[in-house]
This record gives sequence, structure tokens and C-alpha cells, in this order.
Amino acid sequence: MSVSNLGTALSSESVEINEVGNIKKNAFLHLISEVSVDDHGHVHAGMCGTASPNEFEQKLDDYIDSLIHKKENLIGVLHYAQEIYGYLPDNVQWHIAQKLGIPSAKVYGVVSFYSFFTMIPRGEHVVNVCTGTACFVRGADKLKEELEKQLEINAGETTPDNLFTLETLRCVGACGLAPVMIIDGQVHGRLSTAKEIHEVLAKYRPES
Ligand code: FES
Repeated sequence: MSVSNLGTALSSESVEINEVGNIKKNAFLHLISEVSVDDHGHVHAGMCGTASPNEFEQKLDDYIDSLIHKKENLIGVLHYAQEIYGYLPDNVQWHIAQKLGIPSAKVYGVVSFYSFFTMIPRGEHVVNVCTGTACFVRGADKLKEELEKQLEINAGETTPDNLFTLETLRCVGACGLAPVMIIDGQVHGRLSTAKEIHEVLAKYRPES
């Protein structure tokens, strides 16, 4: 059942976040503030345009140059870079380190610590399974297993046709709908059967 977009869910003051999830919440709030959400609740990031790598770099540089406290804004810069590029390859991390005047090892350490950041390109649609406590108790593991079966990939991987990337994250504040998965920012809750999961995924597959 599709209930709301993630922006709405995370705007709620009743959001329940644990110590790791709190970081995720802030991350998504930042992301949503930077991208558009269409009538279907789908999130569109800045990288969807036709800009060249040089234009991406210029955009990133403009953003960094606009910051007063550059070194203190590493996470914000990484979010912005991921919105532009879609992921954070080595050369982008190195460029950010140079611009901020910090060791590239520090940038890598942050990128690899937070699961929201990715160093590999994602598919057209990002499927996230919530593994927070409420979802875990109500079958998040089975939901993840079923998604892995239907998409024929493991969590952390992208389908060969680049249509779906499967990932996990912590509580997104929709615990009443557990177990939930989030596709492109739209929350789908109370998913328990293979048929229900299949029907949700079908909405994101191209019509044949
Ligand atoms: S644990 Fe809160 S939405 Fe999954």
C-alpha cells in the first residue's frame, strides 16, 4: 500500500529515530530539500539532467565556495555531490578533499561509514528496506529476502538492466506501517505477501 512520500513522513514531528536512524533522517531531509517530488511522490535528483562531468564539478565547486565553514560541512557537501553525480566515486571524493582542505582518508571514512552514501552507481529506482526495530519485528527480513528473490540480486546490488538497486536503511518514521520499503522516496507499507511486493515493483517496471 502506497501511503505517502518520504518527505511527508520525515516532516512529521512524531518521527521515531534511533541513534543511527537520526543521522538518516537528517540525510533524507537534506536530500528532499534539494530535489523535486512529482505528483506520484517520486523523487527526482539533480543528476537526472544532461550536464557534463565538468558542469557537475562546477556545480559542486559553486556549492562548496558558497559555504562559510567548509571543513565543518563535509557531510552536507557529500550529500550535495551524491545528488549531482548519483554516487561518490574516488575522484569525486578526492576533489572534495582538495576543495575542503582535508585528508582524502577522512572523506573516504565518512562515505564508507554512512550507508546512505554509495561509491557505486545506483539503478534507476532505489528500493530501500527499513530494518529499524518495528519493521524488523514485523518481518523486514522476509521482505528483504522476497525482494532479493524477485529482483534476483542481494541487498547492496543493482539489477543487470540497471533498473533497481536494493538497499537497507534504518527507521524512516513510518513504523505504524511496518514492514515498509521505500522506492524513490515513496513509502510502501504493510507488505507481507510475495504478490503484494510483486505488484509494487511492477509499478516501477517499464510497460511491455
Ligand atoms: S522501524 Fe520505523 S519505519 Fe521501519
